[in-house]
This record gives sequence, C-alpha cells and structure tokens, in this order.
Amino acid sequence: MKSISVKKILTTKPESQKVVLNGWVKTFRSNRFIALNDGSTINNIQCVVDFEEFDEQLLKQINTGAALRITGELVESQGRGQSVEIQVKDIFVHGGADPEVYPIQPKKHSMEFLREQAHLRVRTNTFSAIMRVRSALSFAIHQYFQQNGFYYFHAPIVTGSDAEGAGEMFKVTTLDSKNPPLTEDGEVDYKQDFFGKETNLTVSGQLEAEAYAMALGKVYTFGPTFRAENSNTSRHLAEFWMIEPEVAFNDLNDNMDLAEDFMQNVIKYVLANCVDDLTFLEKRLLDVEKTKPQAERSEMALIEKLKFVSENTFKRVSYTEAFQILRNSKPNKKKKFKYPINEWGADLQSEHERFLVEKHFKCPVILFDYPAEIKAFYMRLNEDGKTVAAMDVLFPGIGEIIGGAQREERLDVLKEKMATLNIPEEELWWYLDLRKFGTAEHSGFGLGFERLVLFATGMGNIRDVIPFPRTPQNAEF
Ligand code: 4AD
Ligand code: MG
Repeated sequence: MKSISVKKILTTKPESQKVVLNGWVKTFRSNRFIALNDGSTINNIQCVVDFEEFDEQLLKQINTGAALRITGELVESQGRGQSVEIQVKDIFVHGGADPEVYPIQPKKHSMEFLREQAHLRVRTNTFSAIMRVRSALSFAIHQYFQQNGFYYFHAPIVTGSDAEGAGEMFKVTTLDSKNPPLTEDGEVDYKQDFFGKETNLTVSGQLEAEAYAMALGKVYTFGPTFRAENSNTSRHLAEFWMIEPEVAFNDLNDNMDLAEDFMQNVIKYVLANCVDDLTFLEKRLLDVEKTKPQAERSEMALIEKLKFVSENTFKRVSYTEAFQILRNSKPNKKKKFKYPINEWGADLQSEHERFLVEKHFKCPVILFDYPAEIKAFYMRLNEDGKTVAAMDVLFPGIGEIIGGAQREERLDVLKEKMATLNIPEEELWWYLDLRKFGTAEHSGFGLGFERLVLFATGMGNIRDVIPFPRTPQNAEF
C-alpha cells in the first residue's frame, strides 16, 4: 500500500480507512501518543498506540527522532488540537535515535548549538518552517519572472571578471600552491593554470546577464554567488544566492517599478501559501522579542509586517535627500552613529539605512542617484556628472536587500570610467562590445535571496536561513 503524507492526511476525511505513513517521532507521550512528522508540513499527526498490543522492546525504540512506518486507521480525533488521528495497528522502526546521544531533543536549543548541528537542525520546527518558506520563495521568484516574459539565464560560476570591482573573490586554480610556475618576473604564471588565466568564483552574474538581455530582452539569473569579504555579520555570507533580473530598454524608474512589483508579488505568494509555517514563525518571533528591551521590539508581528510591505508603495528617495535627513537626524547630532554623516558623498552604512527605514519613513525605501564614487563602474552617469543611476532597496530589519542600477550604455563614457578605475579594456572587451553593437539603455538589480528569506521568516541571523552556511572560518558539512 502506498504511503500518504502527513499534510495530506490532516485534510483527509476520517472514515476508519487504512493508511500507511512514514515519518519521524517528534514526541512519544505516556507510552500512548506518538506525534509523527514527515516534513510535509509543520503539523504533526497524532498516532494512538494501545501499548498492551505491542512488544515492550519495540515501544522502547520509539524515541524522539526515530524513523517509523505506521499502519493504522484514520479516525476522528478524541483529543483537542487536531481533527484526525491514527489508531495504530502496526509499527515498523526504520531506524531508532538513542536519546542518550541524539542531539535534537524536544526542548529549547540555542541557535548557536543548532548551527553546529546543521545536518540535523532541519528536524526542528523552526528550521523545517524556514526551509519550506525558502523553497516557496524560490518557486514564487521563478513563477513571477516566467509569467512576466523573462527567460531564466544561467550565469557562469567560474569567471575572469570582478563585476563589482571590490576584489573580494575566491580564486579558482589547479596550480600547486606550494610550487606554482613563475614568470620571468617571479610572478605566478597563470598562463599555465587550468584556464590559462586568473579565474575566480563569480560575485555576480550581472555582466553576463547584460549580454543576454541585449538579445533576449528580459532575463533573470538565480544562482550561487561568492564573496570573500571578511564581514562577520548577521547579514553576510561567503556563499549566497542571488536573483538578478536584467531588462533591455528599461530605465531606472522602470527598474524601481520592477523591483517593487516583484518583491510584493513574492511576499504575497508566501502569505498565501505558507500560512502554517508563517504562523509558527510569528509565534517564535514574539517569544524572541519578549526577551528584548521594549525600544528594540518590532512594532508589527511577522504576518502583519509582510502584509504591510506587500500592500504599501515603497518610498523613493534620492541619496541627496536621504543624506540631508541623516545629517539632520537626532542620532547623527547626538553622535550616536558609529559612522557620522557630515559630507555629501559618504557611503551609507547599515545603521543609516535602518534609521531611514525603521525610524524615519517606517516603510521600505528605494534610495536612488548615489554619488558615482561609492558605486560600481557599470552604473550610468547622470547629467549632473557626479551621481549615477543606482538604486538600493532597503527593508525594515534588514537594511539593503536589493542593489541595482541603470547601466552605462554609452561606449565613450564607460571607457572613460574604466580608465579612471584602472580596469583594463582587454579584460572586458566583450562587455564593451555590447556598447558597440546595438547598444540601448538597460537596467537590472540583484536581490540577495537569503536576505529575503530572513525578512520573510523574521529570523535574526542569515546563517539560519541557508541550509549549510559558509562564513569566515566556517565551511563545515
Ligand atoms: O549590491 P550588490 O553587491 O549588487 C550586485 O552584485 C549587482 N551586480 C546586482 C545587479 O545589479 N545585478 O549585491 C546585490 C544584493 C545585495 O543587495 C544583498 O541583498 C545581497 O546581494 N548581498 C549579500 N547577501 C548575503 N551575503 C553577502 N555577502 C552579500 N553581498 C550582497
Ligand atoms: Mg549593494
């Protein structure tokens, strides 16, 4: 007989029909009630055992974490809290989980402890809920783009270019690190390396996506990206997933419209499709918030916050306007910012972004027209000659969640910019070709997928929303 998922069973009409299901024991109470979960939903099915009918040795193996196959009858539940339950007729133990050594016991574990048990933490309610929401979000993202005429584009992972120009790349090489071949000048001779040149893991698929947008019109990437930045924060990973739409003939305003519509759409999707998980995560967040001082608590509960963001327009503010707000702000005057805001041109830190979003505007904000100096080489220079058509989307509790721009489509302006930044034309000859042949205005942005999952789940640390996080000094599993 085919087994049935817990999710399915919980909405099946109980008629004492025979059912078979597989799952893991969450709890086993009074030698009578097994709460079984198979990962299909956050909810468990209660399986009622008549212990007199089962061998004592078998019952001893029914511990938290044990994998079981249960055969029984689906009946209306006698107890409260569930509508159906299973009268167990037969139990097969696929594999036990010795409570003396199994780390995931039915009690509160710290997030730090669970990070060390990343291969098992998904068996907790919190992590299974996060990972189901993560899966739903990624589906929603594909669905949004596929329904809106975008083509999924697979950017290369190994690349020779540094798209963001920040030099935070992981090298890809097969050279012997102890004894690399050298050139006459004593430098490592990458001509003899696997690809015949220096290569690294990509920090962004944007440059390649631009090439494809300039033929397919609308494309998006959704893949892993890598940054060797040594930032040990709750918002940074060394390996993270990025979604990068790129659209030919779009200007910066179109780009902001797309970012807003896209974000609202995927958040609406999880609101509609992940109710049980979000309800659980909301309760969890409330418990966490209770331990914080009043001033640091969020004003909205999780689901309310997701609704708010998906229904209200994002506030669009130029860098210059934001700079003035920040310079005149209370925390700046009282020297509460770690990085004081004095001069136009200062890069905004996450403390400033969060002030704007959480204290000043109290809604998602799109900042645009940043000083050219603090942004990447490919962004389009504005008429004023000192700002570029950049945009960052800032979210409450997160800060920057999206970074994007209208791209510099004018060959001469781009060449000049590359020259000032010492980016050799030979390295990006193909990128310049895009400006030589059929160039046109175009725009795009990058969404950090884990920052979106952070926002949607109300979690506080980015290490907890990716299955196996890679951060400085940590690549276990
Ligand atoms: O702002 P970034 O660096 O922009 C780009 O890479 C552009 N090439 C995107 C584009 O226009 N196609 O990164 C985009 C987003 C950030 O807003 C942030 O959400 C996320 O990627 N991000 C990170 N997420 C986790 N860990 C890190 N180390 C991240 N660095 C950036
Ligand atoms: Mg950025």
